[in-house]
Amino acid sequence: MSLEIPDRVLAAAANRPETVGKEVHLRGWIHRTRSSGGILFLLVKDASGQIQVTARKDLLGAEAFARAEKALVESAVEVEGTVHADPRAPGGQEVRARRVEVVHAAEVFPIFSGQTEEFLLDHRHLSIRSAEMVATFRVKAEVMRAAREYLDQSGYWEMTPPILTGNAAEGGAEAFVLDYFGTPAYLSQTAQLYLEALLFPLEKVYAFTPSFRAEKSRTPRHLTEFTHLEAELAWADLEDNLRLQEGLVAHIAQRVAEARAADLRVLGRDPKDLRAIQAPFPRMRYEEAIRILAEKGFPITFGSDLGTAEERALTQDRAGPLFVTHFPKAVKAFYMLESPHDPRTVECADLLAPEGYGEIIGGSCRETDLERLTQRLTATGARPEDYAWYLDLRRYGSVPHAGFGLGIERVVRWIARREHIRDTTPFPRTPSRVTP
Ligand code: 4AD
Ligand code: MG
Repeated sequence: MSLEIPDRVLAAAANRPETVGKEVHLRGWIHRTRSSGGILFLLVKDASGQIQVTARKDLLGAEAFARAEKALVESAVEVEGTVHADPRAPGGQEVRARRVEVVHAAEVFPIFSGQTEEFLLDHRHLSIRSAEMVATFRVKAEVMRAAREYLDQSGYWEMTPPILTGNAAEGGAEAFVLDYFGTPAYLSQTAQLYLEALLFPLEKVYAFTPSFRAEKSRTPRHLTEFTHLEAELAWADLEDNLRLQEGLVAHIAQRVAEARAADLRVLGRDPKDLRAIQAPFPRMRYEEAIRILAEKGFPITFGSDLGTAEERALTQDRAGPLFVTHFPKAVKAFYMLESPHDPRTVECADLLAPEGYGEIIGGSCRETDLERLTQRLTATGARPEDYAWYLDLRRYGSVPHAGFGLGIERVVRWIARREHIRDTTPFPRTPSRVTP
């Protein structure tokens, strides 16, 4: 038997002038409750929105009224009644109930305003019901939908690379090691090496995977588990790579502005800011970036990496993203292609989000020469035999190729204007937190 009621009306649909006079059957949860003089006022919410319900003792009967009146916030209810216009009700309409059934009477809800961040994180399974969290998760879903849409339409194939892997591709010190039936293995830091393998038969590939970083960085932009969108394209140089990235990010911004305007307003983001995100994005070489930073008083020289403060200084006055290209080889990964114009640098780019949010994408052209790749790998302290399969890709029809990784939570942090990256994901994983 189905639990669906064919005539169920969602709160948002009920709370519209067009439904005035209609009979509705609601299902939802009590958001606020008060009663006075034999009338009960319930604010009932469901996934779509909310509507006020008024119930009178003489219409419900004393017993049903008493049960409804005792029901606490977050209790689940079913309501039948008629929609009336009422300027005092939130949204302008209310349901005058003939029947209120308490489906589940909640205990005292432990979440209320003024609680500490730690308490809320300990009760994350309940605090995710807040209006801001719900708006953020819908924005995040839209970001991922828009990204898939863009890549699918551009001829990319979605792949399913493994999460359990024998290679800590982004630096062994920051990989979570696990015991794989007696052999050490890692939780994936990147799907890149696998996407490079898949590139040869498919030419354009992408993947959404969880990536893991055992970094003890307690910053507002680091998680130990994040959602990684990575793409890899054959026959591509740095400019092809940047064009794909800016097209993707501009498409995400347009889609979210169009489809999630109401959620964006809940989060304090004007959809207009996102409509202004249009390709192409400006490009700045690393050397230019450090010159600007030195002028701003940063103690920075060629060879220094850009950290949170540097990225903020470069982007806080910008309204759109900025590519910083051609970083020094020494601060970037072993697989990045040495720049033909300046061998001290690599053919790479970080895409920095505006308003100080900083890096959202890291990408590069890949080294295709077997010998140079092996040398660079060895220099990181890794053993080439552990990467034999990856090195093999440079033996059988290697072609110029490039790719990138985009942190979905980083993008949502920017778009949804969240102070801390943990508020872009329902159950954040940080150095001090693995539950709930
Ligand atoms: O710059 P990263 O480390 O690059 C790679 O992993 C490449 N192998 C990707 C590729 O070319 N296929 O990570 C890519 C992006 C960063 O720009 C950032 O957005 C996100 O992943 N990211 C994190 N997000 C949240 N928490 C962390 N600890 C993150 N580390 C990286
Ligand atoms: Mg990076």
